[in-house]
Amino acid sequence: MTNDQMTQNQNKQKNRYMIIATSLLAANFLKLSDECQMLNESEADWFHLDVMDGRFVPNISFGIPIIEQIRKTTSKICDVHLMIVKPENLTEAFKKAGADILTVHLEACKHLHRNIRQIKSLGMQAGVAINPHSPVKLLKDVLADIDVVCLMSVNPGFGGQSFIPHSIKKIKQLRKMIDDAGLKVKIEVDGGVTLDNAKQIVDAGADVLVAGNAVFKSADPKQTIHQLKSL
Ligand code: DX5
Ligand code: ZN
Repeated sequence: MTNDQMTQNQNKQKNRYMIIATSLLAANFLKLSDECQMLNESEADWFHLDVMDGRFVPNISFGIPIIEQIRKTTSKICDVHLMIVKPENLTEAFKKAGADILTVHLEACKHLHRNIRQIKSLGMQAGVAINPHSPVKLLKDVLADIDVVCLMSVNPGFGGQSFIPHSIKKIKQLRKMIDDAGLKVKIEVDGGVTLDNAKQIVDAGADVLVAGNAVFKSADPKQTIHQLKSL
């Protein structure tokens, strides 16, 4: 048995199944349909779709019309990460566009619990993202109501940034909070994930790895996804 297979088996024994969420922010937008096809043929589990409004974060990416098009290309999970203010105004529109998971930012929502309820009432899975400066303990009172925590390991707004090392401590804290409460909430780690640091992130307790540049800027994206999946 190879080392890869041994680690996979250990993760299976621990009932852990690594989910790879590829971030299309790093894709070639002129060849979006080819990029989606490549992901469909790969072992990627989720399409991670980063929506930025130039207000909550200092950058603008893409929105509903692009997500509608991407949705048509795949039956994989569309994991929409909203980096926008007032996400409640667009929750229904993102559902219609095809989001399976809708993630809002703790720091962008004055009434986070209401946002979560709205997302769930529309039949989507609810995610809450937290910035590097927000302690994970702030999630305590919503943890039982959500499906995913998107733990930001960079400051949101841009792809291709370096992983903030302190995030490892936060992943461990969050893992303990979730396990102690007997919950099944997934920990998604977003930002600066590479083949070099992924193992450390998984060992700290992550369930989902977001990967943008590490996949799309690699020589062989499908092989990179396979390597991430085999950790
Ligand atoms: C950053 C986004 C990330 C980003 C990750 O604001 O939320 O999802 O696309 O890209 P990489 O993997 O390149 O850091
Ligand atoms: Zn993201």
